[in-house]
Amino acid sequence: MKITVIGMGYVGLVTACGLASFGHQVLGVEKNHSKLKKLMQFESPIYEQGLDELLNKAAAEGDIQFTTELNGADGSDLIFITVGTPSTNSGHVDLSQVYTVINQLVHIITKPTILVMKSTVPPGTGEKIIRRFLNKCKTEVNYISNPEFLREGKALLDWFYPDRIVIGGKNNDSIQQVKNIYKKINAPKLVMGITSAEMVKYASNAFLATKISFINEIANICDLLGADIDEVAPAVGMDKRIGSDFLRAGLGYGGSCFPKDTKGLNFISTLHGYNFNLLKAVIEVNFQQRLKAVHKLHTMLGGLAGKKIAVMGLTFKPGTDDVRESPALDILSLLASEGAVVKACDPHGKDNASKYFSRKIIFCEDAYECAKGVQAVLLNTEWPQFIHLNWSIIKQTMQTPYFVYDGRNALDKKRLSKLGFKYCGVGRPCN
Ligand code: UGA
Repeated sequence: MKITVIGMGYVGLVTACGLASFGHQVLGVEKNHSKLKKLMQFESPIYEQGLDELLNKAAAEGDIQFTTELNGADGSDLIFITVGTPSTNSGHVDLSQVYTVINQLVHIITKPTILVMKSTVPPGTGEKIIRRFLNKCKTEVNYISNPEFLREGKALLDWFYPDRIVIGGKNNDSIQQVKNIYKKINAPKLVMGITSAEMVKYASNAFLATKISFINEIANICDLLGADIDEVAPAVGMDKRIGSDFLRAGLGYGGSCFPKDTKGLNFISTLHGYNFNLLKAVIEVNFQQRLKAVHKLHTMLGGLAGKKIAVMGLTFKPGTDDVRESPALDILSLLASEGAVVKACDPHGKDNASKYFSRKIIFCEDAYECAKGVQAVLLNTEWPQFIHLNWSIIKQTMQTPYFVYDGRNALDKKRLSKLGFKYCGVGRPCN
């Protein structure tokens, strides 16, 4: 099939490459010129494992092309929309990019097509788009909601082996066509109403965020009562009704999805007169978890002013260069504003993180340089590079009290204790 994918961010580029790998003819549209320049050379503008290879393969087989022009979308069997839907401070979802694209498409499209929404849009948006834009189109345009469930860092795995594919629509032929493009993927294809499909996406992210905030609360209580979350969480997760995924306690969730989607669902609930108390608590707990790290450093170091602290990891999780809503950003600015001398490092996130700070933070090339002369290390991201550091060398270059706050419960507590570090984790008792 001839497919246009509009917006070459994480979701768009993975979608474009994934569809091209199935032999569809894909046109990727990207308005950002520096991104487009890279794409034209078949180079991924984002760091995502395996994506460069997939892109090159699709290019070599002549299945993918890129442009900045929306006009190329006319004549496509399907048009995927994968533009950003960021949230504003109030939590309201900013749909301006979606509306701008659709408004332009309505004037461009002359042949019947299917509009597939992959961008995360609040429940009810699809119906609005049909009423406001598509019903006024010169030609037949059917609307399908097809939310994505890709994790950054594992996006290709999630694309080729999803747990389910959700297809929300009204027109049976269009639903069938969307099913067909995924025929090489062996996963349940769930057909439902458009608003339900939109809700599946929000409910899934909100539930996963709830699991994380819940286990973080349990970890905090473990700290107070002397229990160990490493013993508690796996035993709780073994109950099949609960499941062991997303029960890792730590500094809380970040990224471009959970923070935005939890706030977005809360906003839309409030707008409709519903007080989503549980979700509000999930959001609040997630923020407090970041403050807890700062508080712990404050306590262990006897204040923060003038104290030298290394923050290892800037991305919101390993395997990505994405620092959006990473706990590290809040923690770095809080530590710096309290007068601490803050050093930071990350294998892939340094350039993106440094855009958020002026001269307040000392960005280092690697963890060894970062730890030199500091009194405390905070692990923000569980990159394997940090877990497998030579901590004995780190210890030699650090200063007393050699404090390590393991914000991801990823380090070897016994080994660090043996080396003479003062160690605390999240719900892991300090030594
Ligand atoms: C998330 C969802 O997992 C995807 O299914 C969804 O498609 C995507 O959002 C989206 O809406 O586009 P992602 O944000 O890439 O994917 O990252 P996750 O792997 O879900 O992790 C999110 C955050 O939760 C990270 O900061 C991670 O460190 C944290 N986390 C995760 C925990 O603190 N504990 C856990 O047990 C699991």
